[in-house]
Amino acid sequence: MTTSTHGLGRDAAAADRADLVVVGAGIAGLTAALCAAEGGLSVVVVNKGPSWRPDRGEQPTSTFYAQGGVAVVMPEVRPTDSDVTDSIDLHLADTLAAGGGLSDAVASRPILADGWSSVSALIEWGADFDRDADGELLRTREGGHSVRRIIHAGGDATGAAIQRALHDAVAQRAGAGAGAGAGAGASIRFLDDAIVTEVRVCDDQVSGVSYLRNGGWGAVDAPTVLLATGGAGHLYAATTNPAGATGDGIALALQAGAQVADLEFIQFHPTMLYTPGARGRRTLISEAVRGEGGRLVDVYGRSVTDGVHPMGDLAPRDVVANAVETAIELTGHPCVYLDISGVHDFERRFPTVSAGIRAAGLDPADHRIPVVPGAHYLCGGVVTDDEARTAVDGLLAAGEVARTGLHGANRLASNSLLEGLVMGRRAAAVALGRRALRPATAAAPQAPGPMPVLDRDLLQDVMSRRVALRRSADGLAVAAEVVANAPRRVPRTVREVEDAALTLTASAVIAAATARTESRGAHVRTDFPQTAEVGESHTFRLVDGEIRETGFAGIAV
Ligand code: SIN
Repeated sequence: MTTSTHGLGRDAAAADRADLVVVGAGIAGLTAALCAAEGGLSVVVVNKGPSWRPDRGEQPTSTFYAQGGVAVVMPEVRPTDSDVTDSIDLHLADTLAAGGGLSDAVASRPILADGWSSVSALIEWGADFDRDADGELLRTREGGHSVRRIIHAGGDATGAAIQRALHDAVAQRAGAGAGAGAGAGASIRFLDDAIVTEVRVCDDQVSGVSYLRNGGWGAVDAPTVLLATGGAGHLYAATTNPAGATGDGIALALQAGAQVADLEFIQFHPTMLYTPGARGRRTLISEAVRGEGGRLVDVYGRSVTDGVHPMGDLAPRDVVANAVETAIELTGHPCVYLDISGVHDFERRFPTVSAGIRAAGLDPADHRIPVVPGAHYLCGGVVTDDEARTAVDGLLAAGEVARTGLHGANRLASNSLLEGLVMGRRAAAVALGRRALRPATAAAPQAPGPMPVLDRDLLQDVMSRRVALRRSADGLAVAAEVVANAPRRVPRTVREVEDAALTLTASAVIAAATARTESRGAHVRTDFPQTAEVGESHTFRLVDGEIRETGFAGIAV
């Protein structure tokens, strides 16, 4: 296997043909790239960020910033601090309970069941999860989990450890060459600092991608394209997501003709560090802090979640985020506090969180961390089957950008890294089956046509105000109008391509939130507080430049 990864000599002209194009370099994308290359495929990874270096201050993937860990049922688990022994059935029950009636049990069970083998492969690739003195994996607990089943690395630096392991595995395979069991054509090449502007479709079949890089347009021909672009946290002024989370994959999929569903379910994490007035990425305070004894209190020291849910501070995320919002409304104080006086050895167990607190000029030793709910995770996404296939032949999606049916209306904490791993592997298997297909020859690379591009601050402000944790028809109508009036222009820079993606993604989120006239999971309508007896998942497509509801995504129970 050959690669020009980890820095130098990336030649766009040489990367004009591949068996698989992976868009995104987080857990789903790199897992798929590694598995596909192990199977002998040539893979091009289009990475919006710079070439990988673990010491960069800001990283492009949400994977890197994941703290809590990977929720996984281990075989032969010993009893934990609870008397309950873990099982796939129990993990599934917790996932469905969090998912508010929209998780697809039939799709979810095999994803959860494939967790341990996928995690084992990750460990073989070098991911170093935290262990006790006997070498057993340590497990923590987060909201909605009935037992300790979340493995972690570097305390709260799980995503960083996984990202490093995946890049190391890419580099090792490059060093091992084709002798590693892969065919002569096996390779992983990175196009860094590049953004995909179009998934090209010819005769109803994917034929590759167009991209923008260093101010020039390029193209890669491929029979299979995997969208692994992560989420869309930058629809909002403040988010736990890195700068690259701009809904790129949602927009690319819609433009290619794929369906999206459940986009109204934007998960607001209950505990994002409160830093007044700051825009962009803010420090996440992992739910594992509550799993280790942290308590949410209002400005007067009263519990935020008492009487709200039997699981208290470890209730599912939507419940806790709404309890925080209520406490903020009732007290008129702009945040609540995470009391960490009961967390043993806080700074050693949570080094990433501690560093973020210090960077904001606060001191973990004060034992009171100011927090607010913050845009964190897109529960819905591009509709896929259980092999990561979308409705467009050859277009796959995995990770946060995809809607497999696992997360429903509210994702269970730490199920996302697991899903990215499992679905990344399945996507690679699909790409292997398509290797013999020859895409139609590409047209010359060219700039996209004019499209709606809203000013980012304007978009984020209207989304933060009108499409927040709690929505109403009036507010959604205001947001819809702002987005509908976005000026049309040809995006010519990475920032403008992102802004176009954010604009289209926002219109899909607003359409979905408007259509759902009930409150469910992460979607709270102040004008429709009730939950319908039967939950339905609606699909949307881009038709003549407009987002239209097209039907229902199946939910098998
Ligand atoms: C956290 O550590 O609280 C975040 C984990 C997740 O979003 O799954």
